[in-house]
Amino acid sequence: MTKSSAPGKIILFGEHAVVYGRPALAVPVTQVHADVEVLDSDRAGIWIDAPDVNLHAELSMLPSDHPLASVIHNLFFLVRVSPFPNLSIKITSSIPVASGLGSGAAVTVALVRALSSHLDKQMTDKEVNAFAYEIEKLHHGTPSGIDNTVITYAKPVYFVKNLPSPAGRGAGGEVETFSVGRPFTIVIGDTGIPAPTKVSVGDVRKLWEAGRDKWESMFDQIAEVSFVARRIIENGWVDMLGELMDENHAILQEMTVSSPELDKLVEAARSAGALGAKMSGGGRGGNMIALVNAEMAEMVARSLKEAGAKNTIITQVS
Ligand code: MEV
Repeated sequence: MTKSSAPGKIILFGEHAVVYGRPALAVPVTQVHADVEVLDSDRAGIWIDAPDVNLHAELSMLPSDHPLASVIHNLFFLVRVSPFPNLSIKITSSIPVASGLGSGAAVTVALVRALSSHLDKQMTDKEVNAFAYEIEKLHHGTPSGIDNTVITYAKPVYFVKNLPSPAGRGAGGEVETFSVGRPFTIVIGDTGIPAPTKVSVGDVRKLWEAGRDKWESMFDQIAEVSFVARRIIENGWVDMLGELMDENHAILQEMTVSSPELDKLVEAARSAGALGAKMSGGGRGGNMIALVNAEMAEMVARSLKEAGAKNTIITQVS
């Protein structure tokens, strides 16, 4: 049996602007993960068991554009697996779907790693990342590549999307990890409202097309925030991050990607003593994050629940 696991992720700064070439910061969230087990099987075919999404099917029963089928078909083509072996694949995930925690990318990364190593077709992180980016593009329109990158490398990432085909990059962007000068705590609050990233990214694109000057300037403001935030994190001046989160959230509100539910959770976190808070990921639903002193974390998480959060996660960035 071959097993693989991939963490969730959260964007600290720079979502949406990252699609337009501005830098963004994202970190892995290890409290949630996607797990894949691959076993040789006596039964003919490739049987997929994904109880979280009520799926139990043989590969050929799935439409070819099904997210799991497209990973398997494309991978087998890439690493030249023919004929297909008889396998049993079990996929579980504790990452909520369409919530900004990278559930799709995590399943892809764990599945690719488990399958490639089970079939003795080892892939480097760079290859896994490049492959996962291609899959993200199939299902999410015009993603920046930040989700697959932070999940593949499972490290804090300062991400800048590719300029067209620069040599040696690939996987959607340049992979640059950054160090955390002093660990800090964030509380993640889930609105419980599923919000596919593709939709908010598509809406931003339409608005950007209709008024490029204004939008480019908002993206530049976010770029400045991400740039400064990285330096602050590296230097361990964590208390100064809260203000940047508030600033980033205000720009995201202006960009129309926040929502009343997200704003309510952001406000609740601030009132409960968070040093700053913002929505995270595609927006319109999904998750928000709040920066807290560690001893305040439980209290902020409770306040988020009282304000309507369906779930909270306390995580340390280190
Ligand atoms: C999604 O996690 C973050 C967005 O910036 C989209 C992307 O970067 O692909 C909204």
